[in-house]
Order: sequence, then C-alpha cells, then structure tokens
Amino acid sequence: MTTLILGQLLDFPADPFATPPEDAARHETRGAVAVADGRILGHGPAEAIRAAHPGAAEVDHGDKLILPGFVDAHMHYPQTAIIASWGKRLIDWLNSYTFPEEARFADPDYAAGIAERTLDLVLANGTTSVASYCTIHPASVDAIFGAAESRGMAVWAGKTCMDRNARDDLRDTAVSAHDDSAALLARWHGRGRARYVITPRFSPTSTPEQLEALGALWSENPDCLMQTHLSEQVDELAWVAGLYPQARDYLDTYEAHGLLGARALYGHAIHLTPRERARLAETGAALVHCPTSNTFIGSGLFDPGLFVSHRVGLATDTGGGSSFSMLRTMAAAYEVAQLGGTALHPAQLLWLATEGSARALHAEAEVGTLAIGSAADLVVLDLASTPAIAQRAARAETIWEAVFPTIMMGDDRAVAEVYLAGVASRPATWSRAPISATFLKKADA
Ligand code: GUN
Ligand code: ZN
Repeated sequence: MTTLILGQLLDFPADPFATPPEDAARHETRGAVAVADGRILGHGPAEAIRAAHPGAAEVDHGDKLILPGFVDAHMHYPQTAIIASWGKRLIDWLNSYTFPEEARFADPDYAAGIAERTLDLVLANGTTSVASYCTIHPASVDAIFGAAESRGMAVWAGKTCMDRNARDDLRDTAVSAHDDSAALLARWHGRGRARYVITPRFSPTSTPEQLEALGALWSENPDCLMQTHLSEQVDELAWVAGLYPQARDYLDTYEAHGLLGARALYGHAIHLTPRERARLAETGAALVHCPTSNTFIGSGLFDPGLFVSHRVGLATDTGGGSSFSMLRTMAAAYEVAQLGGTALHPAQLLWLATEGSARALHAEAEVGTLAIGSAADLVVLDLASTPAIAQRAARAETIWEAVFPTIMMGDDRAVAEVYLAGVASRPATWSRAPISATFLKKADA
C-alpha cells in the first residue's frame, strides 16, 4: 500500500558546502513523498507523484515543510535528567553532575525509563535518529536499543568504556570493556535498525590498554562506527598531555591505539593542531559539532572552515548540550559560525542536521535524505508555530526567508509530525510533570 505525504518539500541533490547553497537545494511549494513498506519510493511535485501512484492514500500537511528527520550525531541519553545543570566547566561538570547520574544506570529499570523518556523527547523535537553514548553498564545499551526498537527508530549506540579517572562504581577494565562491548555488538549490531558503536568515553578515562583493546575490537568489526570525544576544552588537553606523554597530540592518543579511521566520530574537535586537522581530513574521520554544549560548558568555538575541509555532523550533545532540539542546535551553529566570521546559509544548516549528520554516520543511504530507497523517516515543520515566528515568516519572499525564523526561534512547537519508517510517530502531548517535591518542601519551610 502506497501513501503520499503532501506539503512543501526541501531536499539536497548536492552538498551545500561544495555547491552554492541555493543551487544545492530543491524546493517544491506543493510536493509529495511517496512511501511504501516504510521506504521512500519517490518525491517531487505533488501532481507528478500523484500521476505516478494512482490510487495511493494521501496525508496532506498543507503548507507545512517536509524534510528528512533530523539526525543527532552525538548525544548522551543517560544525561537527559541532568540537562541544564549550572555553573561548571567540563571536568567539574562530569564529576559533579554527570557521573553521579550515570551511576544510577546500574539499575536497569532506571536506564529503561530514561531511554524511553529521551526518545520521546527527541522525537517530539523532530529527531528521528541519534548516535548516543550509554553508561558503563551493559543494561544501559539494552535499554536504548530496546526503546528504539519498540518505536521503529534507527539508533546508533554503545557502552561507554572507562577504566580510570572515574568513581569506583563507574569503572570497567580493559578486558571487561572489550568483552562486554563485543557481547553487546553481537547482540545488537544490525538487529533491525540498531547499530552498535564502539565507545571509549575519552582518553582521560581510558588506560592505553583499554584503548588498545577497543582498537582491536574495532579492527575485528570494521563496519562498526567508533565514537569518542576530542579536544573539547583547554584544561582537558593539558590533562591528556600529562596522561599520554608519548603522544604527539590528543588525536594521537587514539591513533596510536587503532582508534582513527573513516568510521570514527570525534565529538567537539575544537582545539585542533595542524597535524590533527591534516590526519582527520586524510582519514575521512567525522567531526561532530556540538554548538550548544560548546557554549554552555564554555569549551570554545568550532572553526567554520572545517565544514568545507572535513566530514562534519551536527549534534545536541545532551546533557552537556542545553537542548534536545536540532532547530535550537542549528541556531547555535549559526551563531557560533557568525563569531568565526561565517554566515551559514539556512540550506547549509538544514543539510548539516540531516544529510551531514547521516554522512558522519556513513548512513546517508538509510537516513537523512529523501532519496529513493531511504527509510521514510521524516519531520514536518510548521513554519509559523509561534506568533514571533509567524509574523517574521509572513514577510518571507523565498523559502529561505520562510524557514530561517523557524531555525533561529523554533522548538518542539514547530514539529507538526514525525514519521518513522512511514508511520506517524510524534509522541502524545505531555502531562506536565509536577515541580520537584524537594523544592516545594523547602519553599514551605
Ligand atoms: N567528555 C567526556 N565525557 C563527556 C561528556 O559526557 N560530555 C561532554 N560534553 N564531554 C565529555
Ligand atoms: Zn559528548
């Protein structure tokens, strides 16, 4: 059974960082995406698609904008409940907020609850795929893949490995990290839409032996991605230099242990040396830009030149990032690039949040585009979702002027629908959670 999903359409036949952005995009004011068995059969002007699929069912979104669902290329689902924690920079933030929260994931029921909550939050924000870190606990991996499977969502995730510089209850060993990761990889990688990602947290929390063991696991499973953090904050760089006196630079701590390659994802990548830039470009490794996190934790400004020279994905990095929304993340990317002297075009921002992130995951044949054969994972945006956005969009003379106010000011209210493999999947509206009882008790006292 074929269904036509109708509305405005934007897609990107070319890379808007390699081609003038407006030439890289194609816009249909009245378009349609034809979907059957969860996959895209075609898209284009509504009348042409109707003629090609006579008798198809129709879902009409009017003048709302249909895009590939957003792909969040780096996030930490276990940090959902501590998003927006005040006042710390990276290392103190990890020790004060993140590690105590991640320790709670020793309880598989807690992990399952947060996994469900996170995927509902990201879907409500129009994100149809994430690449997530888990915690050191294998059950935290089962939790996110289980929650994704029940929603029909393509998710990349892996057990976060740490065998030093973390509290006792958050450390594994080189051997257990390898063996637990291998077992989880065997259980989940390629099961339905699940993809396992080998995940050393970052060099400071792994011994060289652990990095070596995970490098070996990656070489035995070369179709897996490997995700970690790189050069996020200046204090962290000094720490890494002290822990790895032999290393030429931060990237070398990974490279020396078999953790550099085209299927690597490096979150942040802010303070890079010329050698690191050259090696990252040569190998085709992906950098993942996390702009709300980089400003929130005070890490620094990603160099906008890297969008042209390197493979780059875009990500929230929740809960170091301050939003689940890829709209908010595009806005932050715009602002950070402005500070670096570059005005990113709306076409470039939308491409980064969809195909750019999908390319970082080597998954652009499956998600992040409207190409024939891709999964029908879509977001439908209302370009007039609030009074402030609506009054600005009312002045628009081009699709770019119509969509930019939503990029800069939009949030989950702009997300009219999401489709996962062709199935409408926007979570039901929330019943508002009560304010913290602890806070209220103190207020009464
Ligand atoms: N570096 C190592 N772990 C983390 C993390 O959880 N969040 C961020 N932003 N940076 C990290
Ligand atoms: Zn991160």
